[in-house]
Amino acid sequence: MNKALRPAVIAGNWKMNKTPGEAVQLINEIKPLVADAACTVIACVPFVDLQVVLGAAADSNIRIGAQNCHFEDHGAFTGEISPAMLTAMGVNVVIVGHSERRTYFGDTDETVAKRLTAAVNAGMTGILCVGEYLEQRQQGITDELVAMQVKIALKEIKPEQLGQVIIAYEPVWAIGTGLTATAEQANQVCGVIRATVAGLYGQAAADHMTIQYGGSMNAGNAAELLAMEHVDGGLIGGASLKPNDFAAIVAAASK
Ligand code: 13P
Repeated sequence: MNKALRPAVIAGNWKMNKTPGEAVQLINEIKPLVADAACTVIACVPFVDLQVVLGAAADSNIRIGAQNCHFEDHGAFTGEISPAMLTAMGVNVVIVGHSERRTYFGDTDETVAKRLTAAVNAGMTGILCVGEYLEQRQQGITDELVAMQVKIALKEIKPEQLGQVIIAYEPVWAIGTGLTATAEQANQVCGVIRATVAGLYGQAAADHMTIQYGGSMNAGNAAELLAMEHVDGGLIGGASLKPNDFAAIVAAASK
């Protein structure tokens, strides 16, 4: 099965949780539990935690990522952080276009595209988040909407850069709500994403692309979701703050 062609990636998105001290404690608890992982393990932590968590994770198999980045290297953008700043710290992974950034902080498909392009051009891996609101699912426009989000975000990404992109399908109605897409729903939309990538870059490129599901993935439902053909990993919110739950998801992806 083509699934074997793509690395399984489990990424924790800690969102706006954990002070630097708490973050070190959490990463130290997670480290031994995922040491034997047969998948890529990432923790995307708040900017202020990056330095200390990088240090604490240096002797581990956990990659440390950020949760957003700007599209310029530097300049008058109060409160923003650039890819150049992140890579200078040794951070090579960043989430872009999370629905919370789109919903609460004005990110659009266009700014998400710029952020992703800047991150990739800086040599980083970008985890691009896409997904529909409940009303959009009920309207029956999920497939077109997600395909459009993917196309706009990837428009400046060159074929040779595609290996630096992970796409996370995160239905907004499933985030932090305890509602999970069924394995079939997740697989269907991840399949649409793969077909969209195939349309842009060819089938071989699409076969190698890691596509994650995110939205109330937990220790109990991870195995079923991750067994689906087009679901190659997970972007984990709440459960990534619970070491045993996160480790169980990593174990499910390591099978
Ligand atoms: P939850 O796992 O808390 O639903 O969050 C998912 C998410 O938004 C990951 O980016």
